[in-house]
Amino acid sequence: MITVRVPAKVNVQLGVGGLRADGFHDLANVFFAVALGDEVTATSGEGVTLTCSGPDAGAVPLDDSNLAARAARLLAAHHGIADPGVHLHIAKAIPVAGGMAGGSADCAAALVACDALWKLDTPFQTLLELAAELGSDVPFALLGGVALGRGRGEILEPLAVSGTFHWVFAVADGGLSTPAVFRECDRLREEAGTGSSDTDVRTPDADPALLAALAEGDAVALAAALANDLQPAALSLRPSLAATLRAGTEAGALGALVSGSGPTCAFLAKDAEAATAVAAALLASGTCRAAHATYGPVPGASVVS
Ligand code: C5P
Repeated sequence: MITVRVPAKVNVQLGVGGLRADGFHDLANVFFAVALGDEVTATSGEGVTLTCSGPDAGAVPLDDSNLAARAARLLAAHHGIADPGVHLHIAKAIPVAGGMAGGSADCAAALVACDALWKLDTPFQTLLELAAELGSDVPFALLGGVALGRGRGEILEPLAVSGTFHWVFAVADGGLSTPAVFRECDRLREEAGTGSSDTDVRTPDADPALLAALAEGDAVALAAALANDLQPAALSLRPSLAATLRAGTEAGALGALVSGSGPTCAFLAKDAEAATAVAAALLASGTCRAAHATYGPVPGASVVS
């Protein structure tokens, strides 16, 4: 039996370029791995089967559309294993369809867990390549820490970071579909008259002030530099998130933004004590379903037993 722990992510910068011919957008995506995470346990089984536990377990598909099952099958195929046998249990803490890459995290964890269970010793670089085939956010869940993702987010460059940052995540009722949020971003750009294709929109770059704040461990400077080009689209599809962002800011958060494609909202706090207070205030405000205080950066998918 192999258990793998895997982090959720927040994008401290999500710069979104124009729509490419392949349906993806070029990104300048600064991923940050947080301790709020899932655990995936792999045991020997017949075929590839899945179970899931946790408050949101009912919203997790347990068929072959689940990225964790697809990861097990892709790893087996890569090694010429015709008839893979594994049962994967997902202990789910990451919000489902929440903009924190929970499905991608389970996918990365399944790659690492099956690799260990089947004693394949796949090189890390190969795991990263398989991860990129499975989804844009999967390679980062393997890598963890803080990294700049270029291309559709899969071309990763680890970034320097000092110390620990304290975060609060406000979980909304229901999820948002990532493709729908990207489509809304394109629609808003068309409406504003700027155009939405990759010939209209400049390819984004990482913000030097944000990179310096991470390297220096400066939470106030990082809060000032937080930026998410998908936020207007997430707010357009879910206007109630404006009240959530306001409630966290009024409770003393240094900075606030929608996490990835949302609807989870992320708040940066001064320290662990402030994060606990912001989480309590968010819950009391009635503008979210749950609020979790956590920290990062933390490593990517790793075997714990
Ligand atoms: O790669 P992944 O399967 O996670 O992407 C889900 C969807 O999100 C894509 O089909 C696309 O609609 C959108 N997406 C995008 N640009 C990216 C990443 C994702 O438009 N860089």
